[in-house]
Amino acid sequence: PDLEKWVDDLPRPGVLEPTGTKEGDPYYEVEMSETEQQLHSDLPATTVWGYGGGFPGPTIEAQQGEPIRVRWQNNLPDEHLLPVDTSIHSDIIPYDTEGVHAVTHLHGGNVEAESDGHAQAWYTRDFAETGPEFESKDDYYANDQPASTLWYHDHALGITRLNVYAGLAGFYLLRSEREQNLDLPDGEYEVPIVLQDRSFNEDGSLFYPTAISEEQDIGDGSYPDPSIVPQFYGDTSVVNGKAWPRLSVEPRSYRLRLLNGANSRYYNLKLLQYDESSGELDADGPQFVQIGNDGGLLSEPVEVGDRLELSGGQRADVVVDFSEYAGETLLLHNDAPALYRGEADNPDDDLVPLPEIMLFDVGDDETTADSYDLPSELVQVPEIPTDSVDNERYLTLNAGDTDEYDRKLHLLGTADDPSGHMVNDAVTEEPTLGDTEIWSFVNRTGMSHPIHLHLVHFQVLGRQGIGDYDPDEDDIELDALEEPAPYEQGWNDVVNVDPGEVVHVIVHFGEYEGLFSDQTGEYMWHCHMLEHEDHDMMRPYTVSPSAD
Ligand code: C2O
Ligand code: CU
Repeated sequence: PDLEKWVDDLPRPGVLEPTGTKEGDPYYEVEMSETEQQLHSDLPATTVWGYGGGFPGPTIEAQQGEPIRVRWQNNLPDEHLLPVDTSIHSDIIPYDTEGVHAVTHLHGGNVEAESDGHAQAWYTRDFAETGPEFESKDDYYANDQPASTLWYHDHALGITRLNVYAGLAGFYLLRSEREQNLDLPDGEYEVPIVLQDRSFNEDGSLFYPTAISEEQDIGDGSYPDPSIVPQFYGDTSVVNGKAWPRLSVEPRSYRLRLLNGANSRYYNLKLLQYDESSGELDADGPQFVQIGNDGGLLSEPVEVGDRLELSGGQRADVVVDFSEYAGETLLLHNDAPALYRGEADNPDDDLVPLPEIMLFDVGDDETTADSYDLPSELVQVPEIPTDSVDNERYLTLNAGDTDEYDRKLHLLGTADDPSGHMVNDAVTEEPTLGDTEIWSFVNRTGMSHPIHLHLVHFQVLGRQGIGDYDPDEDDIELDALEEPAPYEQGWNDVVNVDPGEVVHVIVHFGEYEGLFSDQTGEYMWHCHMLEHEDHDMMRPYTVSPSAD
């Protein structure tokens, strides 16, 4: 359907209230269920899946140092909303269970393994059937980490892309006293914004492809039907569950919590002045001033410069000062090509570009115009020293293999076996609690991938060309690396790795300078393009207790 843009207001997800307490902690019960939702005024209601009855789900507001417990209740219907490709790991996924598999992961949460939403910890309605890693019906979130923009979403093995596409995602905002004392824009001036892309059928239902398109077809075409697709790019911008929405703001500063919650799409964002009647783009709008990323506040605000890059799963906590734009309409503009390759040339086919994301209507009431000075220092972010490294890992991102149906596999590999492993191959990454490691991600594929580690937050050391680093011969020459972008400083749980490059990150497993807490057990790390994650760009890793 050809939807008119900018008709609907941007919804704000509600805030979830606890239903009581459990073991002395606030207790939240959140139901996952099927519901109908108006995603655009001109579309018939769309059947979606949501947490707490809506898409996106309600925001959980948590406070540092105050643990909570959550029961994510699977009340999804018997049949999946979208066609399921049962050829994906049919050996380890029982597709014939009654009811849909689901399990919730708190993305960015420094969480005990039992509560982390391991891909094989799925369960069906009323916990009737459970996956091999399932341990507890209630999840415990210690909230022992810096104030940050976290989010929760489904993580069930083999169908994460479908469950999230159906709508299973929401925000989790962790706050702290330190942050609250900074006097950042809050209340109605703080807006969580989840960017996603969707496609629709004429009847308003969600469209998700069931067959590999000709351009993406590399085998003999005898694929399962339905088949997983290599990547998904929707033709409609859906923000906070509305197609092409607009938000009225006052001419003052706002804090926007941006999240890329799309399946495969990258965003490269900028605000532009926009003439709505002609659709013309004028001069630049206000800058994004970034104050935080995945894992918390930066030490100081940074002006983003030209474009804000957000790869899958990443967050940017930004302040935007609309005070000079009273009466203007601003477009949130995205120039990322669908098949993203970072700075590298994008020769072919821009599959489905999605330049127009949402509008901001800045009120013209000068009396409310308010200029605001951001504090010049935000928090102290301790730097993990590189001279304390216990271990280095060379980890490859590969596209050389195919599955039994000749479909391209993106896999994660190691120095010993660089072509890669499947998700259920034996664990190869086994850091010890208390250790500091450098993980070097080596992208040998033709596209960018957002790499995400559960449990921990790492610091980006820098990047270099693949040819400049061979772990057998070279030490990592820290001084020679291309420095991380200013907004990549501080704590990250996703890092974008462009083709042809090596990105080195440093990570400490366990409590660090009073931040984070000690956890051991099995976690996942993976590409956050959900089509890749499901097919098989995901690996387990375990943190083992230290010997002493
Ligand atoms: Cu946002 Cu393993 O996920
Ligand atoms: Cu990927």
